[in-house]
Amino acid sequence: MDALFSYLLLLVTLIASLFLVFRAKNPDAGSPKKLPPGTIGWPVVGESIKFSMLGPEKYISGRMNKCSPDVFRTSLLGEEMAVFCGPAGNKFFFSNDSKLLTSWLPLSIKKALVFPTFVENSPKDIIAKHNFMQEMLRPEALRNYIPIMDSMARKHIEAEWSPRKEIKVFPSSKKYTFDLACRLFLKIEDPEDIKRLSDPFGLVISGMFSVPFNFPGTAYNRAIKGGKMIRDELLSLIRQRKNQLSENKDFVTKDMLSQMLLAMDEENDKLLLNEMEISNNIIGLLVASYDTTSTALTMVLNFLAQLPHIYQEVLKEQMEIAKSKGPGELLTWEDIEKMKYSWNVLRESMRLTPSALGSFRETTTDFTYAVLPFLRGGRLAFWTVHTTHKNPKYFPEPEKFDPSRFDGSGPAPYTFAPFGGGPRMCPGKEYARLEILVFLHNVVTKFEMEKAIPNEKIVFRGSPTPVHGAPVRLHPHEK
Ligand code: HEM
Repeated sequence: MDALFSYLLLLVTLIASLFLVFRAKNPDAGSPKKLPPGTIGWPVVGESIKFSMLGPEKYISGRMNKCSPDVFRTSLLGEEMAVFCGPAGNKFFFSNDSKLLTSWLPLSIKKALVFPTFVENSPKDIIAKHNFMQEMLRPEALRNYIPIMDSMARKHIEAEWSPRKEIKVFPSSKKYTFDLACRLFLKIEDPEDIKRLSDPFGLVISGMFSVPFNFPGTAYNRAIKGGKMIRDELLSLIRQRKNQLSENKDFVTKDMLSQMLLAMDEENDKLLLNEMEISNNIIGLLVASYDTTSTALTMVLNFLAQLPHIYQEVLKEQMEIAKSKGPGELLTWEDIEKMKYSWNVLRESMRLTPSALGSFRETTTDFTYAVLPFLRGGRLAFWTVHTTHKNPKYFPEPEKFDPSRFDGSGPAPYTFAPFGGGPRMCPGKEYARLEILVFLHNVVTKFEMEKAIPNEKIVFRGSPTPVHGAPVRLHPHEK
């Protein structure tokens, strides 16, 4: 009898503990509060497997059809979250940053990227002094970078494209993007110096979204090690540059590292950023710009190789610019401003295959949205491009590549958002536009491209990825 009683007590305790753990992980469970419609799938795994099997586009549109076109509940990255949908959801998301919502990143990603002392901070405080970042990346500040982008694009194409009959666009775009970032963010040009950053950076990028098991041999463990190697390398670079700046007051370079080292907090009459904050910011810039920009560049070139009628229009625009220049003369801001059709082509490419999925926020206060209560510190909010970019209501014949959608005032507000919106909109939007248009100019004025694998599959691996690297056959223009 005693044994039976002990057994029952143990069973009840176990069930009660499981219930408490479940309630702690799911504070809304069992409460009469109204929740957004949706499913949270299996414990821990949530809906992540379905999400990766279907891909974000199909998963999101499926859930919007099944659950709600306004806001639905899911569980991804081990976190329960509400997905805000449609232009109204985007507007709410973009307009309430800092008021009701604040940026959020999974702890596992922060552990790979930043110094341990910053891991508990919100991304808002890690990417220190967001206004400074916006200031540094504003269009006027980037004007001087255009000739550098152009000369690097020329060198890259001369070395990597011209000697070949066929090239894989994806790895080539990645190399160009990383080399350019090293030059413009850090003034690093030596291939050995670049390699000391690109090797560990590769480990971080390929492991930071993997299952966060930090054991020797796992991709996540390699990402953690890669992150530390980058931070060590950056700290030594920052100190070296600091010395150069203090020993020689005239030593000023126009890269972002020097700007960060010299930036002053005028109110308190001290330097704006310390060494670790500078390192966080540089890593933030590298991570935020690398996959996004190289993917957007790959996708637009991929469309040009597939759609000869679009390519011909882009060629016409770019050749007019090329003919207006003297031999060897580099592109300028005024030339970029003439690339209106090409910019529409790039935007249409980003509508169809956006390189960034969206972003996450944490609730900072209680509020109501779509007659549903949201609680402070409650579930996360997720906004994604996939709730509007292919909705026929806002983009008729959504699968058709039609750059004229961007003529005049363009798409309806809050429907096209590859860079986000509101106060935390991507500060690198203009940098990405310049980098991509400059490279596109150099490719189109030299080659016609033909897809080597016409129906190459594009899968989602953190961003859209052509499975064979987007190989194209190159047909140089006759001189
Ligand atoms: C086609 C290329 C790019 C796309 C599609 C893209 C897209 C985005 C998106 C969607 C966000 C999130 C905005 C939000 O949280 O609401 C973001 C944030 C950010 N992006 Fe970009 N981005 C691109 C290129 C770049 C480049 C080239 C840089 C730097 C030079 C950059 C720097 C950043 C930074 C620092 C943030 C974080 C801003 C913050 O939270 O304060 N991005 N980007």
